[in-house]
Amino acid sequence: MPTMTSNSKQTVNAAPEKNPQKKFLRALAGQALSVPPVWLMRQAGRYLPEYKETRAQAGGFLDLVYNPKLAAEVTLQPLRRFNFDAAILFSDILVIPQALGQTLRFTAGEGPQLDKLTGAADLARLDPDNIDRTLSPIYDTLAEIRSGMAREQFTDTALIGFAGAPWTIACYMAEGEGSRDYMAAKIWAYRDPQSFDRLIDIITTATIHYLCRQIAAGAEAVQLFDSWAGAADETLFARYVTAPAKKIAAALHAQYPHVPLIGFPRGAGALYETYARETGVTALGLDTQVPLAQAQALQKILPVQGNLDPAVLLAGGTALDHAIDRISTALGAGPHIFNLGHGIVKETPPDHVTQLLKRIRGQ
Ligand code: CP3
Repeated sequence: MPTMTSNSKQTVNAAPEKNPQKKFLRALAGQALSVPPVWLMRQAGRYLPEYKETRAQAGGFLDLVYNPKLAAEVTLQPLRRFNFDAAILFSDILVIPQALGQTLRFTAGEGPQLDKLTGAADLARLDPDNIDRTLSPIYDTLAEIRSGMAREQFTDTALIGFAGAPWTIACYMAEGEGSRDYMAAKIWAYRDPQSFDRLIDIITTATIHYLCRQIAAGAEAVQLFDSWAGAADETLFARYVTAPAKKIAAALHAQYPHVPLIGFPRGAGALYETYARETGVTALGLDTQVPLAQAQALQKILPVQGNLDPAVLLAGGTALDHAIDRISTALGAGPHIFNLGHGIVKETPPDHVTQLLKRIRGQ
């Protein structure tokens, strides 16, 4: 029998997990907890001196991603300092384009670069049947993290796996780099929807395989990062954000009915509600722009995660306390996972993260 606290609330699409013990998984199963679970997007990263040290030891960023021992080490670093309620696999969303055969480079200070796909003819360059040749070290990392967590007795900490959502990945594949408006991807989608559909399908299939393998290797929940959902208009959003997320959710839940999927359609704005109702994801990641009144309405549909401004975490002080309290007051009565609305900024003093945890946990 599921044991639920008296203030718990079952939501329509609640995770099918029967009786989760870990706090993070309980919130995903629809329970309202008096102290919410907390983790932070990009919690392993350059704001931590120990991360910078391990990264230097690995060589470059991608050398770190594909080194299971060191990638597991940087995943565990923020747990040791802050005892977050969840660990997130240390990797990157762009390993999927790389596994499909695109050349990927990370140059310090410049962000990621891919040899861009310009249209239908370039799809022949992709090799969707051999992605595990590239991705298998990442499965080893997950196993390594689970044994590290057991060894270091993080027994109430859950492990999150992740992938980029097809739209965001397609945007990067078509642009070759980050972009303000993803114009090349959008023009391709509008001018030649058939071949853009094929690209999205290739990514969707690869993502389903990749996330299933992550779960088999030890991920207890998975998050789908759609960082550029906000660049899609209503039509593109339905076809390339909602529909692929729905396919991914259905495939994962058919194979792993108890593993929750968090959908994070960043910048979706008024389209968050359709996404919540139509995709079948277990929970919603909310970006910083989502007003708390909208967050409360969404929380009636699904558990929510978010949405502190990374800038206020960097700022610290009373502004940080107030921003935390506003979110806790608004979302504390329903299922909520405390997080940022986007990744932690590298200039953030680690002490501010300590302040955040004290404020939320009341210690
Ligand atoms: O959250 C975590 O701690 C897990 C690891 C993780 C990374 N990237 C590590 C990383 C996750 C979940 C991501 C997701 C990711 N990667 C997204 C989606 C989330 C978002 O930010 O919108 C995107 C768009 C990427 C692509 C990417 N990777 C960019 C644009 C950059 C450069 C920007 C930057 O901050 O430098 C990266 C690099 C990256 N990925 C770093 C880390 C820790 C910094 C690289 C370094 O160590 O030098």
